[in-house]
Amino acid sequence: MIRKAKIKDIKQIQELINCFAKQDVMLPRSLNELYENIRDFWVVEANKKIVGCAALHISWDDLAELKSVAVNKRYHGKGVGIELVAACLEEAGLLGAKKVFVLTYKPKYFMKFGFKKIKHASLPHKIWAECINCCKFPNCQETALLKNL
Ligand SMILES: CC(C)(COP(=O)(O)OP(=O)(O)OC[C@H]1O[C@@H](n2cnc3c(N)ncnc32)[C@H](O)[C@@H]1OP(=O)(O)O)[C@@H](O)C(=O)NCCC(=O)NCCS
Repeated sequence: MIRKAKIKDIKQIQELINCFAKQDVMLPRSLNELYENIRDFWVVEANKKIVGCAALHISWDDLAELKSVAVNKRYHGKGVGIELVAACLEEAGLLGAKKVFVLTYKPKYFMKFGFKKIKHASLPHKIWAECINCCKFPNCQETALLKNL
């Protein structure tokens, strides 16, 4: 079942994201960051456990960011990721965003949804201000992709 995240989900969301972050396939998220941005998150629940999450963050003007897309390994390949990304894209449209970007180590996965590669430098300065606080800065290997809605 897909639904918006609740405060009680935060610890499980962090476990899910940080498990992949330890494998260097996505960026870690602090509890503070998750509490402050919990309204951005969608989750998929199965057997009363959070098995997938994704976040849509409004960035600047008509631009939104898709973040923290993660699915528990046991649920891979069952369409959970597709459901989460679709919910975030639909929400972006409802909020009036015209473009959604993602910074990712898995560009091919997002190309399936119509995201196209762009230069990092074409993103607004605000994004760069956030990058400075990231533990990977300045050696980030993520690919930037953008989808026009
Ligand atoms: C990437 C991820 C979110 C995909 O979730 P998922 O629920 O397993 O994927 P879905 O079942 O919704 O999607 C399945 C489709 O995507 C494809 N796919 C899955 N991972 C892929 C990848 N890394 N690259 C390209 N295609 C991929 C599958 O082959 C399948 O395609 P098909 O429908 O044509 O057969 C999941 O593997 C994951 O959590 N990975 C670790 C965290 C991560 O890398 N997150 C993304 C970057 S922030």
